[in-house]
Amino acid sequence: MEEAKVTTLPRIGEKAPEFEAITTQGNIKFPGDYKGSWVILFSHPADFTPVCTSEFMTFATMESQFAEANCKLVGLSVDGLYSHIAWLRTIKEKIQYKGMKDVEVKFPLIEDITMEVAKKYGMIQPGESSTKAVRAVFYIDPKGMIRTMIYYPLSLGRNFDELYRVLIALQAADEFGVAMPADWRPGDDVIVPTAGSCGAAKERMESKDEMTCYDWFFCTKKLDKDTVMKKILKK
Ligand code: BEZ
Repeated sequence: MEEAKVTTLPRIGEKAPEFEAITTQGNIKFPGDYKGSWVILFSHPADFTPVCTSEFMTFATMESQFAEANCKLVGLSVDGLYSHIAWLRTIKEKIQYKGMKDVEVKFPLIEDITMEVAKKYGMIQPGESSTKAVRAVFYIDPKGMIRTMIYYPLSLGRNFDELYRVLIALQAADEFGVAMPADWRPGDDVIVPTAGSCGAAKERMESKDEMTCYDWFFCTKKLDKDTVMKKILKK
């Protein structure tokens, strides 16, 4: 088998590469069809494999939770459409796993037998596999910009609490003009942007605002969970 051509990886802060594709839910133009929504584009190595099956069941079960945060899901593997359809039917009809059963995958799953899309998105990483996509996750914002990329190897299933946490954190950072510290979860203190000058920093440290400053460059403030979630979740 010819080794996949190495392509440049997309980068955070750049426009999501465009493509048109056939999916289990019809044809899509990406990212144009998703303008106005967040979208998670993710790849899996292969249909009819156990780790991928556990991931698809989890993603499908959480789809409405992502939708409430204005986020759509789009999957991809280098398998063909009929394989996708047969695999998703098997999941629905036969697989019971960790309390999940009768799971219907309603989000589109892209067929990418030519690997055109997978290569555009750096999902083919030949050191891991030149014939399968790694487990990539791209967060694309409502303007079509790449905001986060996470890659996992073939042998490691994704952590879906983390995938959801990242979505909420990205939106909260945008909405409230703050940054999120290590392990942030809604309800935890958030980081106030660094003051532009010594004077501003001193003023800020002395201000009566409810801030905690650990030093001039490191201040946090409270942001309660309800405020965050009300802003992000669709009514
Ligand atoms: C899996 O999903 O189980 C899997 C797929 C490709 C390689 C290894 C594991």
